[in-house]
Amino acid sequence: MNKTIIVSNRLPLQVSIQDNSFKVVPSVGGLATGMKSVHAEGNGIWIGWSGIPENDLSPELSEEIDSKIRDAKCVSVPLTNEDIEEYYEGFSNRALWPLFHYFMEYSNFEQNEWEAYKRVNEKFAEVVIDNLEDGDTVWVHDYQLLLLPQLIKDKKPNTTIGFFLHIPFPSYEIFRTFPWREEILTGMLGADLLGFHTYDYERHFLSSVKRIMRLEVQFNEISYHDRIIKVDSFPMGIDYDKFHNAALEHGNDSEEKSDLRKRLEEHISEDKKLILSIDRMDYTKGIPNRIKAFEYFLDNYPEYKERVRLVMLAVPSRSNVPQYQKLKRETDELVGRINGKFATVSWTPIWYFYRSMPFNNLIDLYTSSDVALITPIRDGMNLVAKEYVATRTKGNGVLILSEMAGSSKEMNEALLINPNSHEDFAVSLKRALTMPLEEQQTRMKFLQKRLKRYDVEKWADEFLKSLEDTKNLKNQNVTK
Ligand code: ADP
Ligand code: G6P
Repeated sequence: MNKTIIVSNRLPLQVSIQDNSFKVVPSVGGLATGMKSVHAEGNGIWIGWSGIPENDLSPELSEEIDSKIRDAKCVSVPLTNEDIEEYYEGFSNRALWPLFHYFMEYSNFEQNEWEAYKRVNEKFAEVVIDNLEDGDTVWVHDYQLLLLPQLIKDKKPNTTIGFFLHIPFPSYEIFRTFPWREEILTGMLGADLLGFHTYDYERHFLSSVKRIMRLEVQFNEISYHDRIIKVDSFPMGIDYDKFHNAALEHGNDSEEKSDLRKRLEEHISEDKKLILSIDRMDYTKGIPNRIKAFEYFLDNYPEYKERVRLVMLAVPSRSNVPQYQKLKRETDELVGRINGKFATVSWTPIWYFYRSMPFNNLIDLYTSSDVALITPIRDGMNLVAKEYVATRTKGNGVLILSEMAGSSKEMNEALLINPNSHEDFAVSLKRALTMPLEEQQTRMKFLQKRLKRYDVEKWADEFLKSLEDTKNLKNQNVTK
């Protein structure tokens, strides 16, 4: 039976080593959490990195880990310390990530890191080819593997290859500054179908293909050598039922409550509200901006002192990359300063957690909060916003969402804000805190209906169906 091979830099499970034994935890991030359900349902395999350098492993431990990974229908691509430093922390997260999120000043282009990026994409290609059988479909994910589609196409021209980008594709004016812009586009064009979260990202990509590669683009099809490549937008959904059902099971009415939930409930009442934010600790997420805007809110609406609390969960991410270290320091300082400025003996305005949390605790946070504040400066999609909505089983709660998140395109009933405007932030927060229950429920109802209908399974089905259709394009071309 033909299978679908999912390929991404990170596997859905992450291994860590402690004293010659290992621990496996689920990976954090939209790609892993979203694709996990798709992978669990299908008959395919997932190829990616396990999260540890191969240099650290004895052959026995390495075999033990591989076997655990194989049990989860995954295959690991071994990366060395050098690969991790130059390809992952370096080229992927110091060159591509900031540029694609419009943080041009953070982008750093190093020739040796580009060489490492090519080398590691080739490593991935080898593992894919080793696991590929005739008739299999390959689905490549995200910015760490932009060269992989063409590398596979070169060796196995008849393989059907899809590519999905989980982050924004920047406008031509930004992308054209990239030193290896043609190589990157050529790598992507090895795919038969290229998918983006939004129409805007798709449009930006097509514009770069036209202007940099000088290729003919008709509507959403690119003519390239003897091939037609399809480009389309597929806004990624979430596993709606998983979040909704978990909220029913562990939410407000459940009998067995976690310690976290008990603690949270002590602080909720008719006139005491919890405001939630959850992000990976990433400068694209607008964390310092959000804290400063919260300060502006408390300064301008002092009647909310002692009546609101911001519960801020920031999950450690890419902590070897200098900009992430700087962000952590800045966040620590800001939280300290604002708590110091406003705290009373019985109230601290910000509860700040810098750690990962088990799934049930995430559900506790989602279901206990009156308002979710999701205010990235730039975000490909943002699944946290969708997860919050899915867990509001009683239809109450208000989502404040940045216009710069891809998800804002499908979530018009949220309060959409410009994350750079403190005034916009403060007015929207006040509006959320005073919104009548009926209005909250009406907005939630529309949001939930849409998210339930277009969940992650539907998203994957539509992508794979569209990829299957490209086979017909290929056949038409051959018979012409
Ligand atoms: P990004 O992909 O940039 O990290 P998203 O909002 O799209 O942003 O996805 C983040 C994902 O990580 C969500 O699915 C969320 O449930 C998950 N997540 C966030 N915080 C935690 C945490 N503390 N523990 C486990 N998973 C988390
Ligand atoms: C975003 C990216 C993913 C990445 C995730 C976590 O969602 O689109 O490709 O896996 O962040 O980041 P990390 O660097 O830990 O894999």
